[in-house]
Amino acid sequence: MAPALGPDLPAPPPLYLDACATTPLAPEVWEAMERAWRESWGNPSSLHGQGLAAAEALERGRWGVAEDLGAAPEEVVWCSGGTEAIQTALLGSAATLPPGRLVISAVEHPATEAAAAVLVQRGWTVARLPVDRQGLLRLDALEPLLAPPTRLVSVIWGQSEVGSLQPLATLGDLCRERGLRLHVDAVQVLGHQPIDWSALPVDLLSGAAHKLQGPRGIGLLLVRRGLALEPLIGGAQEAGRRGGTEPVPLIAGFSAALRLCQQRLRAHGGRDPVARVRDALWRDLRGRPGLELLGPDPEDHQRRLPHHLSLLARGRGGRPLPGRALVRALARRGVACGSGSACSALGSGAGATATTGASRVLLAMGFSPEEASAGLRLSVGPWLREEDLAGVPAALAEAIAEVDAALPR
Ligand SMILES: Cc1ncc(COP(=O)(O)O)c(C=O)c1O
Repeated sequence: MAPALGPDLPAPPPLYLDACATTPLAPEVWEAMERAWRESWGNPSSLHGQGLAAAEALERGRWGVAEDLGAAPEEVVWCSGGTEAIQTALLGSAATLPPGRLVISAVEHPATEAAAAVLVQRGWTVARLPVDRQGLLRLDALEPLLAPPTRLVSVIWGQSEVGSLQPLATLGDLCRERGLRLHVDAVQVLGHQPIDWSALPVDLLSGAAHKLQGPRGIGLLLVRRGLALEPLIGGAQEAGRRGGTEPVPLIAGFSAALRLCQQRLRAHGGRDPVARVRDALWRDLRGRPGLELLGPDPEDHQRRLPHHLSLLARGRGGRPLPGRALVRALARRGVACGSGSACSALGSGAGATATTGASRVLLAMGFSPEEASAGLRLSVGPWLREEDLAGVPAALAEAIAEVDAALPR
């Protein structure tokens, strides 16, 4: 008898509601990458046919992304992903400035927090802008923080755990008036709303392909023309701003993924149609006992990411239920979702504090440590239709009952 090659039946594919962690490749992206692996596999710095083909594909990718974002091609710097883009923006900027103060929000991604920690070692101070109960910047607290010795400001545009969209135009104008350099972490925003870099009052912008159905391992940093920036990784590529042979097939994939997003946005008047799927899910869930919305109202398009829903679930007696346990209980029912920022190997959420598992982001929003361990994130993408989600409310109700029953009384 032939050895078994695996289980008899593959498990049904789970409902993938974890778009903010990463996304499945779009078929068109797969095709673009396959073509690039076959036709443009050379080193784009080589001076022969294979090199020239790769260089052409590399620049085609750069031009495409620049065109879609309203940037000049030379303002696009490729790197490995969001984390590297953010760290290049902050550490690379600080290396060109005398030490001063970095202002970030209290709800940044750990990549920004990590860069801030390095800057502290280099003689900088760091101030954190407070946020309100919805995770939105408290603009009333902003002005004093923008005074000297602040030189650098970095803000997460779309918050990955609670979906808040920060008022970038206001912040940008205030920074411009004071000559402060502003970086924006647009990792969750890219592909979900039109971005016109030429009109944004921002100096640096980070993005990553894998959040928009592109491949992992490729990100971009937009760098305002003429801005001095030290590389994080030295080398001749990317005009000296990021060393290392460029991964042309990944860049082709990034460019194809962004083009798809742009087409989708354009076809829907600049609004991400996936919001309809998220809105339908929220309509089915809102008002259910024990469920509380985290972050801004989904109907407030100006203030909430279109693909994002986050909830706090409570059991009997109003006790907050651990988000990680809910995620596991939902996974057993075929629903893949997240309990916060997904960047930790444990899946506990990179925003979780080391000792309590509570989310830094929710703590900063004023939730108690117990509540801050109870965040649940459902984030959707174009691979889902409204009708696919019909079973999610029942699965969530079951998961809540299971986790609640298992908690010690
Ligand atoms: C807002 C935000 N910034 C930065 C990152 C880091 O991006 P990457 O995973 O590409 O390093 C993420 C990823 O979760 C994110 O959501």
